[in-house]
Amino acid sequence: MERFPSDFLWGAATAAYQIEGAAREDGRGESIWDRFSHTPGKVYHGDHGDIACDHYHRYQEDIQLLKQLGLKHYRLSISWPRLFPEGNGRLNAKGVAFYERLLDDLICSGITPMVTVYHWDLPQALEDRGGWTHRDTAQRFADYAAFLFQRFGAMVPKWVTLNEPWCSAALGYGFGVQAPGKTDWRLALQAGHHLLLGHGLAVQAFRDLAPLGQIGITLNLSPVYPATQQSEDQEAARRQDGFLNRWFLDPLFGKGYPQDLLSEFAPWTNDLSFLEERDLAVVSTPVDFLGINYYTRSIVRAGKPDQLMRAVAVPGPGPVTAMGWEIYPEGLYDLLSRLQADYRALPLYITENGAAFADTPDADGRIEDTDRMGYLRVHLQNALRFIEQGGPLRGYYIWSFLDNFEWAMGYSKRFGIVYVDYLSQQRRPKASAFWYSRVANSGDVTEP
Ligand code: FCB
Repeated sequence: MERFPSDFLWGAATAAYQIEGAAREDGRGESIWDRFSHTPGKVYHGDHGDIACDHYHRYQEDIQLLKQLGLKHYRLSISWPRLFPEGNGRLNAKGVAFYERLLDDLICSGITPMVTVYHWDLPQALEDRGGWTHRDTAQRFADYAAFLFQRFGAMVPKWVTLNEPWCSAALGYGFGVQAPGKTDWRLALQAGHHLLLGHGLAVQAFRDLAPLGQIGITLNLSPVYPATQQSEDQEAARRQDGFLNRWFLDPLFGKGYPQDLLSEFAPWTNDLSFLEERDLAVVSTPVDFLGINYYTRSIVRAGKPDQLMRAVAVPGPGPVTAMGWEIYPEGLYDLLSRLQADYRALPLYITENGAAFADTPDADGRIEDTDRMGYLRVHLQNALRFIEQGGPLRGYYIWSFLDNFEWAMGYSKRFGIVYVDYLSQQRRPKASAFWYSRVANSGDVTEP
């Protein structure tokens, strides 16, 4: 088989905080990313999402662009504080009206939405009560999700509960490089658990409220390789795999928390009292698909006892993107194969894959991003290899449709297949957008 199956879904992805802007408009409440990005020193250049791509006002133009590019699938996220400014309770009708218009316009344009319920923008009011470290946040999340299922369930065939809970927990509460910027691994473990619990509760609500739809979760996953074949490095790679991958995969698939991970966390916390016995059954409530975000692999060597996972990251030999992430397309194939071997066979979607490069328009305003096309092509080839071997991969969403607010890196990193001039808010499809449009149309990744 040279081509992708004709029913393969071709799409592009974005997230609310990264593109919408209108941060204080029409009654939207504050999110942890508003607070974090306005805290000096947290985000590169002091950038924030107040305006971002101004998608809140330009969504119609953006949907027209998706349509012109022939992309029939679009993954977006909903801003929780735009609907519930205090996190729960009072509903903001103007926020509901915005998403109603957006979804309606997508559907009328022949574009099928995949909606992520939570892509990192927790209402600050909930963070003030402990955020994801507070057990009650799981229930608040499920309530918010249930509202969405009820209100928009008929318009949205595919839902993703959480985007990358590992990042919310580890980067938000452990490393502190993302909102809310806490640095305590005890809190990170607890936050991770409540994210998973919230996910499970939301899936349960979904079965009652939207029985015809499908629901899944999106994880950021990276295959881990030892720096050498020495047993210490192989052991370090196994520990790092527990941290990056099994921490979330195992409980979701009914295997409970990996024992090796819990013992690695022991120097930071032995207190697992937040884990109630009945929780794991909720967390592993069956889903319909698994979403995978893949950007790069991880290579480690054995580290010292006081280092997290007793592992040290080693840079790979391959070329890197503007994020400094090694381009390792075989890692996508290895990851997909491993998921199929170690976990229940579920339909899989690549919900994010893509690359940042320093794009600059030429004198004619064209953006010849051949490096991005190269990245996408080799990753798609590895995805196809998995499908050819019978792998249940059903769709692919590029990260990202638009250049946007890249979290702690602000606007300095461009992931879009569409260039955004942040001063004029002009959109300009890059060469990769036209290329991807041809690939989506033909299913043939060898398109020139
Ligand atoms: C992922 C995020 C997404 C984007 C890409 C580059 O971790 O889900 O929002 O920022 O990284």
